[in-house]
Amino acid sequence: MKREITISAPGKLMLLGEHAVVYNRPCIVTAVGQRMRATVELTEKSTFQLNAPDVQIANYQKPMDQLGIGDLPKGAKFVEIAVVNFLRSLLEYSRSDLVKPGVKVSTTSEFSSQFGFGSSSASTVCVIKALSEITEANLNNKEIFDLAYKTVLDIQGKGSGFDAAAATFGGTLYFVTGGKTIEPLNIDSLPLIVGYSGIKADTVTLINQVKEKAGGNPQAVEDIYDNIGKLVEQAKLALLGKDWQSLGELMNENQKLLTKLGVSINKLDDMIAAALKAGAYGAKLSGAGGGDCMIALAPEDKVQAVKDGITSVGGQIIEVETNAEGARIETRD
Ligand code: PMV
Repeated sequence: MKREITISAPGKLMLLGEHAVVYNRPCIVTAVGQRMRATVELTEKSTFQLNAPDVQIANYQKPMDQLGIGDLPKGAKFVEIAVVNFLRSLLEYSRSDLVKPGVKVSTTSEFSSQFGFGSSSASTVCVIKALSEITEANLNNKEIFDLAYKTVLDIQGKGSGFDAAAATFGGTLYFVTGGKTIEPLNIDSLPLIVGYSGIKADTVTLINQVKEKAGGNPQAVEDIYDNIGKLVEQAKLALLGKDWQSLGELMNENQKLLTKLGVSINKLDDMIAAALKAGAYGAKLSGAGGGDCMIALAPEDKVQAVKDGITSVGGQIIEVETNAEGARIETRD
């Protein structure tokens, strides 16, 4: 049995379809070059240990029989529940013989957890894949995704799982709620510009906010979701055909619908308007809204002007490689 393994998984950016994807509609997500890493070791002592400096977790320890019990620190939740879910799945398959008494995890990230790049899901996927490899349970990607998605739901109660899918499979995915469809889209890369608003958004708060709005007029919100679903289907074709102009226009349509849902904010609106004014084909918020990032698609000769436009209204440009590789083994011994 291996002693230690390091797995990395990519962050993500939602291209189109957010919010609607929580309610049985499709979205398109791309994995980004910035990665999360987790080193996992099985230990003789029956203790769970975690170091995650990016989320201020230093030398967190508890007995294995207390795993998942009590008030878990915010930065430890996803990793801890991921370990619980993995161990439970081994029990279900009567393979608990595969695990040694203790688990030691350390995570590091190439991106700030403030960006909304999906650091929690990426670390969840890293830990599940690491445990799967180190115990030789050899889960396939769908099984890793399913456990990661379960972990997200255990903690947040809500979510589509798109971020766990991007972290697991990588590339650019056409994805339907809960992984009902996970279809890799065969493209090389996207001329995408990313602007960070400087404001941290909370996904669950925004999902709840939309739900509250729907309470007042459920049919109107269902119609918005239907329209988002339809434009995602068109966007899939535009993306595969590298028709950036049409894709940009669909992003603009999507942004209008997100504004109707009430999840855009002034800062994002300003960054989006600046990108369009500077010649972008299209621009929209990416993710839950309320902050985090916006994305823009622009012709090659307008990229600099679009970046300058976003910066001029206080946005911060984040360079990203799109369509990045999914979870992978970095080192093992
Ligand atoms: O806040 P983010 O970047 O994780 O994006 C959330 C996207 C939602 O559709 C609102 C939620 C989800 O899980 O799909």
